[in-house]
Amino acid sequence: ARVRHYKFNVVMKNATRLCSTKPIVTINGNFPGPTIYAREDDTVLVKVVNHVKYNVSIHWHGVRQLRTGWADGPAYITQCPIQPGQVYVYNFTLTGQRGTLLWHAHILWLRATVYGALVIMPKLGVPYPFPRPHMEQVILLGEWWKSDTEAVINEALKSGLAPNVSDAHVINGHPGPVQGCASQGFNLQVEQGKTYLLRIINAALNEELFFKIAGHQLTVVEVDAVYTKPFKTDTIVIAPGQTTNVLLTTNKATGRYLVAASPFMDAPILVDNRTAQATIHYSGTLSSTITTLTSLPPKNATPVATKFTDSLRSLNSNTYPAKVPLKIDHSLFFTSSLGVNPCATCVNGSRVVADFNNVSFVMPKISLLQAHFFNISGVFTDDFPAKPPVMFNFTGTQPANFATKTGTRLYRLPYNSTVELVLQDTGMIAPENHPIHLHGFNFFVVGRGIGNFNPKKDPKNFNLVDPVERNTVGIPAGGWTIIRFRADNPGVWFMHCHLEVHTTWGLKMAFVVDNGKGPNESLLPPPSDLPKC
Ligand code: C2O
Repeated sequence: ARVRHYKFNVVMKNATRLCSTKPIVTINGNFPGPTIYAREDDTVLVKVVNHVKYNVSIHWHGVRQLRTGWADGPAYITQCPIQPGQVYVYNFTLTGQRGTLLWHAHILWLRATVYGALVIMPKLGVPYPFPRPHMEQVILLGEWWKSDTEAVINEALKSGLAPNVSDAHVINGHPGPVQGCASQGFNLQVEQGKTYLLRIINAALNEELFFKIAGHQLTVVEVDAVYTKPFKTDTIVIAPGQTTNVLLTTNKATGRYLVAASPFMDAPILVDNRTAQATIHYSGTLSSTITTLTSLPPKNATPVATKFTDSLRSLNSNTYPAKVPLKIDHSLFFTSSLGVNPCATCVNGSRVVADFNNVSFVMPKISLLQAHFFNISGVFTDDFPAKPPVMFNFTGTQPANFATKTGTRLYRLPYNSTVELVLQDTGMIAPENHPIHLHGFNFFVVGRGIGNFNPKKDPKNFNLVDPVERNTVGIPAGGWTIIRFRADNPGVWFMHCHLEVHTTWGLKMAFVVDNGKGPNESLLPPPSDLPKC
């Protein structure tokens, strides 16, 4: 295994999209940011130098960070932010992981422009479990905001109302052809009769996306850096924080074909409805005629999303077995909901809040991992409820006087215990999709359904053989998802909705996992350059 060195200078840079120019926060002046390349078991050192006026931190989304929680990145959870003028070196090893992940800023809404791909190749000499592609290409999906996203969210928090939505989606940083603006969009040049591996990443702040390529089928082979049983589809569905590797076979002779990303949200709320456009083009001069899609799923096309999600299975081969926990030590039941709380200083006298089990998470002033490691009291409590306070009708309205509570409450897991977590969406305002991301672990998605989870009936249909293994999973609007994982990574691990607006409102919590007893089980001490609060 090798050591890979990267330098991330956080700098402002002017960027022009949708006919207007604004300064954005970037890594080394690039939007999207640089791709990090490594191999399984390599060690990665990223020196982050903060040259902007904002506090910064970077998260390596999906990297297990075994015993190195200090390098995980979420601000005030595992580290204090890197302040203007400061430097921090993220130092982590990609133990037993290979595939496509992403990195992104993990503070406020900076990840609107601060994100990039993390590509982990298999160990030297180890093949993919599918035919070797002719070429590989990173496809980063994101958003473009004409206004300053920090201003957008600060304004929303002050008013108590929902923030605005983005002005466009982007593919590799570009919205694609826009009327009146000189904008071509991203183009991938291809050759006939070859297979391409597309590493598709959704880095958008607030939107799940459909992704399609005109005239071509895609074969899904991996999600969230775990191999899947290959299956063919013409549409993929991808939530913020998720990655999907697909094989694209170039079965045409000539022409230019549309690549599109459009929003999926099964709730009557405002989203950025703009479809991002890119193209693939067969050899020769770039033609201006583009073969368009015969159809794109509408925003609320839940059946399309469900069909895709239900097709995902772990590869579960001899080389890559699915190690699903069968005996469960901790059975947890978390509701996720959006609610409205009183707010004296807000425009309407109320503000939108979001919660797991009726607890809207309050960010601490120093990092939780430091508080845990150095036994600093008064930063958090470890009494996060294992169940919601009342089992109200999950797809109906909330009981009277049911205000959301606030707190910095964690759930404590003994090292190596096994966990089953029911994630149930509720409808205190309206049911909504929630892509939930757990830091520090991969989990198995053993079950999923619409309506209320039925603990008597539904477990009979769990897939305990080859469930998909990932780090970010959608709770369907008004439905449920069940995940299982082993708490084999000591530290403090954030879990939150990866729709940034919901995280901001409090749809987040953290697990604290006690140290193991063995020499290779304990959390390492913090690096000497760990930022201070
Ligand atoms: Cu990709 Cu805590 O996030």
